[in-house]
Parts: sequence; C-alpha cells; structure tokens
Amino acid sequence: MAADHDKFQRIAILDYGSQYTQLIARRIREQQVFSEIIRFDTPASKLRENLPAGIILSGGPNSVFEEGAPGIDPGIFSLGVPILGICYGMQLMSRELGGKVEPGKEREYGKTEMSTEPENVLFAGLPRDFTVWMSHGDRVAAIPSGFKVSATSANCPYAAIRDEQRRFYAIQFHPEVVHTQFGSQIIGNFLFKICGCKADWKLSTWIDDTVARLRGQIGDGEVVLGLSGGVDSSVVAVLLHKAIGRRLHCIFVDNGLLRAGEDVQVETMFKSKLGLDLTVARAAQRFYGALKGVAEPEMKRKIIGREFINVFAEEARKFSHCRFLGQGTIYPDVIESSHALKGPSQTIKSHHNVGGLPPDLKFELVEPLRDLFKDEVRAVGRVLGMDPELLDRQPFPGPGLGVRILGEVTEDKVKLLQEADRRVQEEVRKLPDYKSIWQTFAVLLPVKTVGVMGDQRTYEYTCAIRSVNSIDAMTADWTRLPYDTLATISSRIINEVRGINRVVYDISSKPPATIEWE
Ligand code: XMP
Repeated sequence: MAADHDKFQRIAILDYGSQYTQLIARRIREQQVFSEIIRFDTPASKLRENLPAGIILSGGPNSVFEEGAPGIDPGIFSLGVPILGICYGMQLMSRELGGKVEPGKEREYGKTEMSTEPENVLFAGLPRDFTVWMSHGDRVAAIPSGFKVSATSANCPYAAIRDEQRRFYAIQFHPEVVHTQFGSQIIGNFLFKICGCKADWKLSTWIDDTVARLRGQIGDGEVVLGLSGGVDSSVVAVLLHKAIGRRLHCIFVDNGLLRAGEDVQVETMFKSKLGLDLTVARAAQRFYGALKGVAEPEMKRKIIGREFINVFAEEARKFSHCRFLGQGTIYPDVIESSHALKGPSQTIKSHHNVGGLPPDLKFELVEPLRDLFKDEVRAVGRVLGMDPELLDRQPFPGPGLGVRILGEVTEDKVKLLQEADRRVQEEVRKLPDYKSIWQTFAVLLPVKTVGVMGDQRTYEYTCAIRSVNSIDAMTADWTRLPYDTLATISSRIINEVRGINRVVYDISSKPPATIEWE
C-alpha cells in the first residue's frame, strides 16, 4: 500500500489492536497528512524502504506482561524517525527502552484531569491543565533514561513523557477520542512540529495519483465490476471509468428486491449520463422463483446470496477475456483491529462475495478505495462530480427488500413495500437533518388488521417504519422523527398505497434489536 503514496509524506501507525486505531488514522488524515495502519510486527527494514515521517504505536487490549503480548522490532527505535507511543504503545516503548512497567492494581478508565509541564512541544499552544481520556491497567513505573516527564495526573505520575533528542514521545491517554480535550491539536503538534509534516494530502491529488496507478496496474487489460448502486461500487466505477474508459464493464444485478425505481436510476445515471459500459441483468423472476414458499430469514438470505453469485457469474463469464475484477472494498473492510494481532485480514463484504465466484472465473482484484474511509469515499465522489443524491445515500442491505418483507417474498409484496418505502424516502429527505440519520425504511409485516375506509371494512397489511441513528451500525438508537413527519408518512401510505391500512413505528434500539428485521 505504501508504494501508492510515495509522493506523500506519511505516518505509519503500528496497530496493537486498540478499538481506537482507526480513529488515530482519521485524526491524522483530517489534518491532511496521509496515514496508514500497519501490522505491529512490521520489521524496521521494511519501514526503512520507504521511511515514514513519523511512527505511532497504537494502544491495545493486551498487557505487556502477558505471554505472547505483541512486541516491536527494536530496530524501529534506530530509524531516526519521531515516534509517539499511545497507551499500550507507551508501555511497550518504555519497556523496550529500559524503563519499568508495572501491572496496575486497578484499571484507570475515563476522564482524568492532567497537568502538563511547560516547554513541551507536544502540548504547545494548550492550557497547562486539561481533561484527557484514560483506559489502561498497566502503567509506567520508571521512565527510560533520556526521558523527561511531560505531564502527570492524580493516578498517573507519568501521563506523558518525552525524549526530545531522539524525538520519542509517549502518552498514557488517548488523544484520538473526542473525550480528550485538544486531542487533535496534540496529534497536530506531533505531525507538524515534531515530524515536520506538511498538510498536503488532498483528495484531488489522491484521485490523480490513483488514476495513474490504475492505468499502470491494468495496462491494456479490461475490468469487470459488480455495480450495486451503493456509494462504494459507484465511486469505484467512476474512478475506473476515468482511468480506462470503455475497458471497464459494469454488471448490475436487478434482483427484483431493490427500492422503487432504483434499477432505472442506476441505468440512467451510469449508462446514459456517464457513458459507462453497463449490463443490467434482469433477474427478478429468477429470485422470486427461488424464494417461493421460503419464510425462514437465514434461508432467504442464503438463497438471495446464492442467486446473486449465479447471475453475476453468468454475466461475468461473458467478459472472461477480462483479467481484472473491480471491488468497492474500503479501509474499514481491510483493517479490523480485532484481527490485527493475528495478521492482516482481508474481509470481503458479503454482498460483493467474490469469494463465492466459481473457480473457472479467475480475476485479479482491483480495489482503488482500499485506503479510504467512507466519508473520504463520498468526498472523492464529490470531487469526481458525482450526483450528491447518490453519494449521500443511506446504506441498503445486499438482500434488499427480501429482508424487509417478513415471511415469504412475492412479487406483489415487493411492489407493495416499494410503494410504501418510496413515500418514506420522499418524506425523510425533506428533513433538515436527513444526513444525520443512518437509515430510514419501511418493513412489510405478515400481519393483517381490520380498518375502515369510507364506509368499507378493510382487512389489510401492516407496515412498520424503522429509522435509526448510528455511527457504524454496530449499535443504533431509534430516530426521534418529528411527529409531523410520521403523521405525513402514515397518512400517505394508508391513503395512497392499496393493501396497507396500518402503520406502526419501531422504537427498538440495537442491541438488543437489530436494524433490519430479518
Ligand atoms: P443489522 O440488521 O445487522 O444491520 O443491525 C446492520 C447494517 O448492515 C446492513 N445489512 C446488510 N448489508 N448485506 C449488506 O450489505 C447484508 O446482508 C446486510 N444485512 C444487514 C443493514 O442495512 C444495516 O445498515
């Protein structure tokens, strides 16, 4: 990965498995310096090949006293590069450089008041006292020679230490989390005042660089890409199209479980407007056929996944002269801190499912977004002039409406749900804080209830509205949608969609509920 960014100075983050490692990378990139997360056991010789401007040792869940606790190549301390150790990184650094670490009697967790020493470049421009976020068990009991104390807190005599000569800095707290006051400035001081970085990592430069690199990788070859209509694969499509034009062949599988009008939208946007070579595989009936009589959620998911692979593979075979397969893999898919200690894991998203392609289809992967976070992907899309409506889209699950029609999926029910959901989308998009909502959608319940319309008795389906706020979909809280919006959604669905006579609002959080109903 590093080779892609030779032009940029970069900060290497050695990952010791902290849940916050990705946040460190983000805080650095927000300051327009490129950062990459690498394995903790990366040898110094590898780093020397393309020397970073600075190195950060992340926090981690282990204790340095545990057997098999992740270590560091001591050669890294001889690279002549500034190093910042955070939490576990501090303890490791202290131990490696001759200090003493002791097991804490109690964990220190949460906000702590910290006092800094004057003339301290890491804390330059900050008040002497401020609040930091601690989360540690072990602590440094004696600092290595050459180091001075930079900050203390009530429970931590060595909350921060430094060796200015070697440009080694270590802090017990987490500057990357929002609970630490001035965290971004502390990271900024490390980047600009200590490592001498320039704020020159810009997405427009990244795009030019990536397009050039893609041309290099692909040469005169051709690429097949599964376009889902979601943000990641759409941005990959536009980037690849910029790089190789009509040698990119996109396949869009219409599984009959998409939102209302989505197939037409994707075709209009990518084929007519952007001029991409796009094949739309119209496979709705095939999916409905395979789902006939199946009500069990996991079964439905498996069938939809299997049919997707079958349809995609059939279409891809028509492009078997292509050597490459494009993928919308993004950074969070690549780095999963929990896997960092076992080695880099390359998770491929379930809805991309390349792992499931039949063995006769052998492609080399092209994954231009591997280095980017989701908001950076959106920003790239904006720089590429893509439609904001597409870029700000809420996530949509691979199995689509199949997991939002509870019980058996039929074509009629899909139409019913599409109509209800279209009205939900139209109304929530009007909200000023639409962008802060993670997902809003309708779910068709297999429940019929009695109603009255005019003088007529009705006996029709119930539709649930689900709306959640979330950062990463791991946890979610139900959105407090305005009553007026809920009222409009309800009356529009009941009055305009034949077949639904009752609307309910889902007020469950995740956990213990999940976002999707199936
Ligand atoms: P749950 O229901 O597990 O959903 O709370 C978490 C997030 O993941 C989305 N989701 C999926 N995305 N393929 C996907 O690409 C899937 O099979 C899938 N299932 C759920 C869901 O919409 C939510 O954003």
